[in-house]
Amino acid sequence: MIKDAELLAKEQREISISEFFEKNRHLLGFDNPAKALLMAVKEFVDNSLDACEEAGILPDIFVSIKKVGEDVFRVTVRDNGPGILKEQVPKVFGKLLYGSKFRGLGTTGKQSRGQQGIGASACILYAQLTTGKPAQIESWVKGKEHYKCALFIDTRTNEPLVEKEEIVENGLEKHGVSITLELKGMYRTVKGPEEYLKETAIANPHAQITFVRPDGTRITFKRGTDKLPVLPKEIKPHPYGIELGTLIKMLKSSSSKTLLSFLTTKFSRLGINAAKEISKMAKVPLSLHPYEITREQAEKLLKAMQSIKLQRPPTDCLSPIGEEEIIKGLKKEYKCDFVTAISRPATIYRAIPFQVEIGLAYTQDLKQDGQIKLIRYANKVPLFYQQGECAIYKAIADTDWRRYGLQHTRGSLPIGPIVLLVHLASVWVPFISEGKQAIASYPEIIKEIKLAANEVGRRLKKYLSGIERKRYKEMRIKVFEKYSNEVVKALSALTNQDEKKVCEIVMHSINERRGEEYGK
Ligand SMILES: Nc1ncnc2c1ncn2[C@@H]1O[C@H](COP(=O)(O)OP(=O)(O)OP(=O)(O)O)[C@@H](O)[C@H]1O
Ligand SMILES: [Mg+2]
Repeated sequence: MIKDAELLAKEQREISISEFFEKNRHLLGFDNPAKALLMAVKEFVDNSLDACEEAGILPDIFVSIKKVGEDVFRVTVRDNGPGILKEQVPKVFGKLLYGSKFRGLGTTGKQSRGQQGIGASACILYAQLTTGKPAQIESWVKGKEHYKCALFIDTRTNEPLVEKEEIVENGLEKHGVSITLELKGMYRTVKGPEEYLKETAIANPHAQITFVRPDGTRITFKRGTDKLPVLPKEIKPHPYGIELGTLIKMLKSSSSKTLLSFLTTKFSRLGINAAKEISKMAKVPLSLHPYEITREQAEKLLKAMQSIKLQRPPTDCLSPIGEEEIIKGLKKEYKCDFVTAISRPATIYRAIPFQVEIGLAYTQDLKQDGQIKLIRYANKVPLFYQQGECAIYKAIADTDWRRYGLQHTRGSLPIGPIVLLVHLASVWVPFISEGKQAIASYPEIIKEIKLAANEVGRRLKKYLSGIERKRYKEMRIKVFEKYSNEVVKALSALTNQDEKKVCEIVMHSINERRGEEYGK
């Protein structure tokens, strides 16, 4: 049938975001059962860690996975965070694109694990889609309430459908959130939930995580430090990273009375002198009301803003793991013969602050297969998929590890009993897709990773040459020991001295040498 505009109009309607993701769940990372189960654990644990950190609470997280059907698993994640107010629970869990961490254009924000307000509700959507069961939520807010509900998402409207609500007073000190879901999945040990939790524990040594496996056994990743990470600060956008549409939007919605106050209060690193310079260059008076500024004037302003010299953005919006904590984290999970870490100074890509950290552990635990284990992190969250497409992998594979005593073919990972932890902390991590598994290869990011890799590589080489030297010296002493009987006999014959006495002198000399080598 040929459709005219009138007929087409009858079919045209608004599509809700939930409906869209219901059909396109692969865009959120739910494209296979093993990944889906991992995503459910990951999204809730990330939320718990974010919430605890913001509330200044040392995280205590409980995760359990139980097999309840052929390919159906019940996942529970419970935390000791601040909890969620009862009015907010349905919206944060039953509505996609609802959250506290998304910052619109014109605000750069601060580092957090969550970015867009989709993670939790996406898992709930996937669960209801694959098992038809609601999510069971409990929230305790200290001194206020204990709220319980079962919840679905109405995908037509992207609104929560709450069932079995229960509210009681929370007279206790207890606080936190507990979520239980039933979803279709597959439990994997390699690159599965347990490995994810282990890697999370390494990068977040201030967290304690207990995991109950589907077979009922449990493992606790113990807290390695009681020191909470320093809370990152919120920052304003830096003029170098702004686009024209954003500037126009900011101008139109600004509450500032003049262009001068707009420029000096809405951006980072832009003071009065810089504002005067911009105004002069763009020929736009500082006394104008931001609302009056035309598109053409905005274009000139932007050009001027991006051509004058400004300081780099501040970096207290970042929360790196820290060298000491990386070392603690690696030592906690691996038997390390040698371990080192480096936190590079913060820098920027597209005017967005970021920082690279690398930890390297030489460990007996990987001696058997001799393979390097690369653990990638973005804002302290382990990345499991799309390794080959990730800037971290590319930078490590492109570093010349042969210079540092490892076997290596350029373009692939080096070989050696090594755990290499690479962390990118940024206010905005440039993921290559919504699944948040691989970082885009901005040249500035690649460069920073390589600089850090070279530094830990140099330290590794020093350690390996030390071992090699020791091995060589020990071998020489052993050779001497092996022939010491013959030497004693020959010396005794030549010097006419008692064999026992010669033996004492020779052994004394060997032991002295050994003592020198080992600093005894
Ligand atoms: N365990 C929790 N404790 C306290 N608040 C929480 C918890 N889990 C989620 N929230 C709140 O619910 C919001 C929505 O969570 P959701 O995972 O959907 O999005 P997000 O974490 O903001 O971003 P992303 O989609 O990148 O995960 C969060 O922004 C946070 O405000
Ligand atoms: Mg989240």
